[in-house]
Amino acid sequence: MKEASIAKMVLVMSLVVFVVVAGLIAYSVVRFRAPAGEQRSEPPQVYGSAQVEAAWTAVPLIIVMILMLATGRVIHEVQAAPQPPNALEVTVIGRQWWWEIRYPKLGVVTANELHVPVSDSLVHRPTFITLESTDVIHSFWVPRIAGKIDMIPNRTNHMWVEPFEQGTYLGQCAEYCGTQHTLMLLRIVADSPEQFARWVAQQRQTAATAPTEPVAAAGRRVFLGTVCSSCHSVAGTSAKGRYGPDLTHLMSRETIGAGAAPNLRSTLRAWVRNPDQAKHGVLMPPMQIDDAYVDQLVDYLLTLR
Ligand code: CUA
Repeated sequence: MKEASIAKMVLVMSLVVFVVVAGLIAYSVVRFRAPAGEQRSEPPQVYGSAQVEAAWTAVPLIIVMILMLATGRVIHEVQAAPQPPNALEVTVIGRQWWWEIRYPKLGVVTANELHVPVSDSLVHRPTFITLESTDVIHSFWVPRIAGKIDMIPNRTNHMWVEPFEQGTYLGQCAEYCGTQHTLMLLRIVADSPEQFARWVAQQRQTAATAPTEPVAAAGRRVFLGTVCSSCHSVAGTSAKGRYGPDLTHLMSRETIGAGAAPNLRSTLRAWVRNPDQAKHGVLMPPMQIDDAYVDQLVDYLLTLR
């Protein structure tokens, strides 16, 4: 590959420089050694030689130019690599302090947990990711899968990922983006193709029908009747807010608050009562909801599977 050939080239050039420099030092050590018992004196010192000065300025300059041009070409080629034709397309949008994840061609919207199909040696299933930001600079980084790429407001960056092993890969926002930068965690879940297809089918469903259980049904009325729905969406209902994470399939996610806590009844309840306690600095305000309503709301959230 191009990257390997440039690595070899740099290695060979460095080796030549090393051999020349180390050889000259070794030669001088031996050649100008004072014979035993003799008075030590310096060899003749050379000052003001224009030729020598020019030579040791020009040679390194040429070497650096060669390295710079070769590296520039490889970077350009790597950047211009075309999107694989069968790639799954995902848009990940950095927000303070969570990740919005959209699969535009599949009609799926989720948050903080990016599901992708796993590749194997026979079939490649790359995922092409468009990276954006709505507020400040964030950086998408899942170390076991790929390098980091910044998410910059008013700019679109691209990368693709292609895990070969199923499982969950942990990531983290890698650009300081404010109070909750530390708790802007990310997961890539690499599913088998069958699991991924099931996940997509499930994520595409709406939550149109109200839960039959009375407490959860009451919670749904609270959710749709208060400010919850101005920031959050639940597909199939009147809740169409875009500011906070889409909650249509909240319970299919392992964590809440972009990895701030595991997704359990107890943590959800604590979150709804006072999000700032679970994630200090979070932009969701404490809604001062009565405890009875909090319980109804949580029961409703637990139905969003
Ligand atoms: Cu987002 Cu740091």
